[in-house]
Amino acid sequence: MLQHKDHFHGSDLEKIEQIYGIRKDEIVSFSANVNPLGISPLLRETLAAHIDAISSYPDREYLSLRKCIGEYVGTDYENIIMGNGSTELISLFIQLKHPKKALIIGPTYSEYEREISLGGGTCLYYPLREEQDFVLDERHFTAQLHEGIDLLVLCNPNNPTSGAITRGTMRHILDVCKQNDIFVMVDETYVEFADNYEAVTSVPLTAYYNNIVILRGTSKFFAAPGLRLGYAITGNREFVKAIHTRKNPWTINSLAVIAGEIMFRDKAYIKETRELISGERARMYQLFAGDGRFKVYPPSGNFMLVRLLPEGMTSGELFERAIKERMMIRDCSTFPFLDHKYVRFCFMGKEMDDKLAECLMR
Ligand SMILES: Cc1ncc(COP(=O)(O)O)c(C=O)c1O
Repeated sequence: MLQHKDHFHGSDLEKIEQIYGIRKDEIVSFSANVNPLGISPLLRETLAAHIDAISSYPDREYLSLRKCIGEYVGTDYENIIMGNGSTELISLFIQLKHPKKALIIGPTYSEYEREISLGGGTCLYYPLREEQDFVLDERHFTAQLHEGIDLLVLCNPNNPTSGAITRGTMRHILDVCKQNDIFVMVDETYVEFADNYEAVTSVPLTAYYNNIVILRGTSKFFAAPGLRLGYAITGNREFVKAIHTRKNPWTINSLAVIAGEIMFRDKAYIKETRELISGERARMYQLFAGDGRFKVYPPSGNFMLVRLLPEGMTSGELFERAIKERMMIRDCSTFPFLDHKYVRFCFMGKEMDDKLAECLMR
C-alpha cells in the first residue's frame, strides 16, 4: 500500500497527480468542500461581456459591491469589509488585533493558528469532545473565558466537524467575552449551507455587539475559490476604519467585483444549491448512521465528519481506496484532536455521493 505521509489540502490535486499518477481533471474532490453545481449560470453567461472592466482600477471603496453584499446578508454596507478571500481577512484581522493569547475552539481550520503564531501570539485550544459529538458545551466553555485571553476564534458551522452553534449560544459567548474584553472572530464560510441559516448566522448580532467580526467568502457556496472574493461583517465602525487604513488598496480586482454583484443576486442558483445540499446531507447522514462501522456527527455544512469504528479501519486506508477510484476525501489525521480514525467528505450530488458511499462501505 502507498503511504501518503504528505498532508493534502482539499485543493492539492497537483500533489495527488505526482504521487498517484492520476490526472487531476479525473479526480472528484470530496475534500475541497466546494458547491458541486459549479459557478452561477448567470455569472457564466454574463461575466465575459465585462472584460473591459480590467482596463480601469476598481473603486477603492468598493461601494457598489458592499451595498450588494449588505443586501445579501441583511446589514448596512458600512459594516462590510472586502478581502481577497477570507484568507486575507483572517490575516489582516489577526495582524490588527495582534493577540498575545488567542483561544481557538478545535478541532478546526488550521489557518487561524498559523496566522496567530506568525504574529508571535500563543494559541490555546478549547477542545470539543468526541463523547459530546463535538457539540460545544456552552456552560463549560463560557466558564473558561477570562481576561488573559484577547481573541476568541470559532468557525460556525465548524470545519471539520460540520457542527453549528445557534445565535442564543453565540449571544451568551459574546456577553461573557465583552465582560472579559475578548474580541471574537467567527468564520461563517459554510453558513449558507445550513438548513437553519437564520438561527445560525451571527450577522444580526453585529447590530448589538462591537466585539465581533464575521468572515464570509465565495469559495465554497458560490464555487469560486479562484476568484478570491471574501468579505467580513462587523458593527464596530472603528474596526472598519482601522482595517481600511491598514489594508492595501484594490486587493479585489475589477472582474471579481462584477462577478460578486452578479452571483449574490442569482436567487435561483442560491435556492438550487441549498436544496441540493440539504437533500444530500440528510441522505448521506442516514446512510452512514445506519452502518454500524461508522459514527457520524450531525452536519450543518456541505460536508460530514465520520469516525471509523472497526479496529483495523484507518483514514489512510479509506483515502487510498477512494483515490484509486478517482475520489479524493480528507484524511483528518492532521487535525488537532483527531487521528487516523476520522475522514471528512463533502456532498457532490446524488450520483457521485452514491459512488463514494459504495466505495467507503465496501
Ligand atoms: C473554515 C474555512 N475558512 C476559510 C477558508 C478559506 O477560504 P477563502 O478561499 O475564502 O480564503 C476555508 C477553506 O478551506 C475554510 O475551510
